[in-house]
Amino acid sequence: MGDKIQQNGDIYQTKELLRVLSCLQHPVALLNLKGTIKWANPALERLCGYNQEELKRKKITSLYSKESRKNLPKIQEILTKDSWQGDLVVLKKDKTESPVSVALQVIRDDEGKLLSILKLIQELTSQKAMEKQLIQSEKLIVIGTLAAGVAHELNQPLMVIRGYTQILLSNHQNDPELKDSLKRIEGQTTRMMKIIQHLRNFSRGSTGMKEPLSINQIIENAFTLLNQQLKAHNIEVIKELTQDLPQIMADANQLEQVIINLIVNARDALDQKGGGEIKVVSRFKKPDKVEILFSDTGIGMPPHIKNHIFEPFFTTKEAGKGTGLGLSISHRIIKDHRGDISVTSTEGKGTTFVLTFPVYK
Ligand SMILES: Nc1ncnc2c1ncn2[C@@H]1O[C@H](COP(=O)(O)OP(=O)(O)O)[C@@H](O)[C@H]1O
Ligand SMILES: [Mg+2]
Repeated sequence: MGDKIQQNGDIYQTKELLRVLSCLQHPVALLNLKGTIKWANPALERLCGYNQEELKRKKITSLYSKESRKNLPKIQEILTKDSWQGDLVVLKKDKTESPVSVALQVIRDDEGKLLSILKLIQELTSQKAMEKQLIQSEKLIVIGTLAAGVAHELNQPLMVIRGYTQILLSNHQNDPELKDSLKRIEGQTTRMMKIIQHLRNFSRGSTGMKEPLSINQIIENAFTLLNQQLKAHNIEVIKELTQDLPQIMADANQLEQVIINLIVNARDALDQKGGGEIKVVSRFKKPDKVEILFSDTGIGMPPHIKNHIFEPFFTTKEAGKGTGLGLSISHRIIKDHRGDISVTSTEGKGTTFVLTFPVYK
């Protein structure tokens, strides 16, 4: 491309532009006026499975499935209208198909002479995947509501069990063996009620109200919900929570969601190693911040994953296991609390998230 630009002696600019196009995540190609590919960026190579050299020998039409070729415009039509847009189906080298949305744009020089046709492709699969994820998160909301209902139902009988246990306890003070058993029942029902209470608070959603509160309490609450599960996954939890930390201005429900997301991610990373350790530290950070360090000894992340984890829908987990929304939502919540979240990770060794929040004054 850019014969004209080169004639002007501005080769540098052409190269720079090509480099920019090379970096794009969207597939881009430049076509000559016969519809043959002159240049393609790496994203197009990835999409079709052909390398640059193979692509250059191809007519653009051969990149599409037979069926969708019918929808392709005639070159003449593109040239008269200067642009075209439509949905097509790419036929990849491995014969698989992938739906795309294509935009063609005629490029002319200053005098209106035709130079090339620019082709921009948007992969629809990711868009489709996104829709699926949205449905998935809708489902989660429904499950949340259901859970709240079930929790409410369970709370009643549990209260009855605990009530009777307490009556029995007061009637059998002199039987140490029975007393011990009853104490255990009482303890376990209290624990169940606590979990249910949290589940109910959690699925009730956020009021959007912030109040001064203790970050340690939020951490404890989040772990209450998941402690048993972590044990079952061979995960040890170490908490180093500084007592008498200054309070922060927070929406308890939202921050609990953030901590739960971190715990669940750590659990998944540790699962792949058959277990390990989660460590959570809370401490004061001079001059006016509270800091939480949340580490795991899981599989860690290479930089090319680490750089994307806060993006919505980014996930390395199989369908049904991850939505790719946890960290992006957490990021938004933390920003809304005027806080910060950052991450360091070593592949194979583990990951540490650092959260900071301004102290409530
Ligand atoms: N503690 C961790 N250790 C290793 N990788 C992690 C950790 N936390 C997050 N990740 C990576 O970040 C991705 C995005 O996380 P998240 O937004 O919570 O979505 P999801 O958990 O649904 O995949 C995960 O799929 C995983 O690849
Ligand atoms: Mg997650």
